[in-house]
Amino acid sequence: MNTEHISINEVGPRDGLQAQSQHLTLTQRQQLVEALLAANLRQIEVGSFVSPKAVPQMAGTDALFAALHAPEGVRLSALVPNMRGYENAVAAGVKTVAVVASATETMNQKNINMSLAQAFEVSRSIIERGHSEGITVQAYLSVAFECPFEGPVEPDLIRAQAQQLAAWGADEIVIADTIGAANPAQVQSLMTPLIAEHGSERLACHFHDTRAMGLANVFAAIQSGVRRFDSALGGLGGCPFAPGAKGNVATEDVVMMCEQMGFSTGVDMPALLRAVALVSEMTGVQQGGRAHYWITNNAA
Ligand code: COA
Ligand code: ZN
Repeated sequence: MNTEHISINEVGPRDGLQAQSQHLTLTQRQQLVEALLAANLRQIEVGSFVSPKAVPQMAGTDALFAALHAPEGVRLSALVPNMRGYENAVAAGVKTVAVVASATETMNQKNINMSLAQAFEVSRSIIERGHSEGITVQAYLSVAFECPFEGPVEPDLIRAQAQQLAAWGADEIVIADTIGAANPAQVQSLMTPLIAEHGSERLACHFHDTRAMGLANVFAAIQSGVRRFDSALGGLGGCPFAPGAKGNVATEDVVMMCEQMGFSTGVDMPALLRAVALVSEMTGVQQGGRAHYWITNNAA
């Protein structure tokens, strides 16, 4: 029996809620994170420190951190687009930050109003400063397979960019299929050499399910040796600046597949499904990947 662990980084409270037309209150966002903690998710991206004009759904993430109490061993993180976001996050007590550089020139401009060179420079300075201040830095490579503006992205470019982020000392490099355009064969051919170069502790994958290949891409990445995944409860998610991006692969689907394959995730499925029901109620939109229906109809 294979009892290897798969780590899930739950991004619903950030990637999920930033894409919702219904803006949740801080109390609702807190209740959602607490429901995820109750489901034993050990890594949760709670929000982002971005311009509230750009992403009003994430306003007040500092107050949210102040209200939350992470149990021992739980990593609550936040996305930061620039040094100001980093400083605000650290002032709010955040210990793990996510920096986001996109693989292409245009996506960086649309997302964070920076050139590709500027975006990588921001990643470098936050990684270096984070290290000197005891902050863990996850470095995202967005649109790593395809850009909504520039089309397919060359795997060699991603390998070179990942190498750069690793050389600067990123604690984790996250290969993100931001618009959900990858297929499993592409995932395997990109992730296999990346795992050989950087190891499974330092790499993670972030998939969106736009073309119904999210879970297949998770499987392909597992076959390549990836053991760390982002996912969002109920398949929430999407980037307001990347046209066509649909929800993330659903956490409950990833958990069900991994557990049935003999991996451990540590996630409490009934509690996770309660969190999915809660977020459906809060957003007014029925959420849920496929696992939800199967488990509900087959539970003893
Ligand atoms: N947190 C809060 N506010 C910020 C900020 C931060 N990290 N960085 C800049 N701002 C504010 C500025 O004070 C300014 O406010 P004002 O209009 O009231 O004066 C405004 O945002 C614009 O600042 P500027 O430095 O000119 O930035 P910009 O217009 O070039 O925007 C970003 C850059 C990164 C701040 C903005 O594009 C952004 O927040 N994007 C969000 C990206 C995102 O979350 N994408 C989805 C996840 S990948
Ligand atoms: Zn995403």
